Amino acid sequence: MIRAIVLAAGKGTRMKSARPKVLHEICGRPMIWYVIRALRAAGIEEILVVVNDELQEQLARLRVDSVLQSPQLGTGHAVRVALEQLEPRAGRIVVACGDMPLVTEEIFRSMAGSLDGDSQGAAMSLMTVRMPLPSYFGRIVRRGTAVERIVEVRDATSEQLAIEEMNAGIYAFDERRLREAVTHLRHDNAQSEYYLTDAVEYFVKSGDRVAPVVAPDPLHVLGINDRVELAQARREMNARLCAQHMRDGVTIVDPQTTYLEPELEIGSDTVIYPNTTIGRLSTAGCACVIGPNTRLSHAKLGDRTIVRESVIVDSTLGSDVTVGPYAHLRGKTVLDDGVHVGNFVEIKKSKLARGVKVSHLSYLGDAAIGAQTNVGAGTITCNFDGVKKNQTTIGRDVSIGSNTSLVAPITIGDGALTGAGSVVTKDVAPGERVVGNPARPLPKK
Ligand code: UD1
Ligand code: MG
Repeated sequence: MIRAIVLAAGKGTRMKSARPKVLHEICGRPMIWYVIRALRAAGIEEILVVVNDELQEQLARLRVDSVLQSPQLGTGHAVRVALEQLEPRAGRIVVACGDMPLVTEEIFRSMAGSLDGDSQGAAMSLMTVRMPLPSYFGRIVRRGTAVERIVEVRDATSEQLAIEEMNAGIYAFDERRLREAVTHLRHDNAQSEYYLTDAVEYFVKSGDRVAPVVAPDPLHVLGINDRVELAQARREMNARLCAQHMRDGVTIVDPQTTYLEPELEIGSDTVIYPNTTIGRLSTAGCACVIGPNTRLSHAKLGDRTIVRESVIVDSTLGSDVTVGPYAHLRGKTVLDDGVHVGNFVEIKKSKLARGVKVSHLSYLGDAAIGAQTNVGAGTITCNFDGVKKNQTTIGRDVSIGSNTSLVAPITIGDGALTGAGSVVTKDVAPGERVVGNPARPLPKK
């Protein structure tokens, strides 16, 4: 069983933020979420995150074990704190950083297996990466082909700074050897910190081997230290998310202006137009059209549904629904199959049954509307009486005339009709026709 320690207690000063660094989001998830996901995907389930006070409170949501490091005396100290919490066991420990959201499951798989095969018997392995200079990453000093030590930038000579092979910050250790090494770390360096990276020199001096593993791509081990790198990581993650959906049969007209999050379900033959954001566990069926200029958040769309230039939050749409341009749906709104919502319509916490049409300039709040009813242009549910929200219930096959105000609470029966400009203050019986302000029944035909 391989365990992992994720380092995330650092101050993250270069972010210049009140928020702990690893909780800064890319594509709708904190960066550390991606690191934990990749570890789990690589089969490493037992994970301990080293945190500071601020992070500890907020990490509960990620359902992962944590240990407090206070004060933060460096990466070597962080690992020592973690080991004190973990029950000693014979086996391997992978150490990673929480600020590396682009790390892949393959990287963790290869690190987890990096002390086997040719490297059998090595005390530790570490991932190295070739990076363009200058770089803040620690430099890998080799003697011949063997790794001899890691030198941090602030402790490096100008000769060492010219080394292009760097420490990516991902390691695998034999647990027994790691426990031994952390007790030997010293803090006589430029930052007066206990560097985990000094374990390399410790092992080499004790006659042990340190196995290097070369990173597949420098981007995959990008450690985020400031907001410029945060934006770079977001762009890369978004490109990966788009690529995955495109491979699964979704057309994304312009991936660079389509903003996705993990854990979305989008059916094949759906087309997404530019400037569209889809997030918070939204789902869309097959052959939908989404965008341009659209935002979906906690939205669920059936098949063949079209949403153009609109905002849909916390709402569920059936199949063959059309929305927009310029509509705003929110607050657990439900649109059944075949509903049509047109320009400049806001709908909050309402349920529209099959085939309802609300084509222009309306506000529907706290309403339930029966099948095939037509809501005329400019209709408003007056749902707020200054104190509380009130319900509007409209039956099926109703015709609500243009510019009707429905003063809630109110019920309009099946097959009823309101005239243009009516202000309806009293319930309307099934089949009844009302007009005027306040609306009064017309004589029966
Ligand atoms: C570290 C490495 C460096 C490597 C680089 C890769 C050391 C001494 N240096 O440098 O060789 O090239 O990562 O990104 O390890 N942390 C704690 N507690 C602490 C200090 C740090 O948990 O007391 C955590 C941070 O939150 C972060 C990680 O450890 O997630 C790395 O710390 P950071 O300060 O970013 O180290 P670097 O200077 O980037
Ligand atoms: Mg760093």
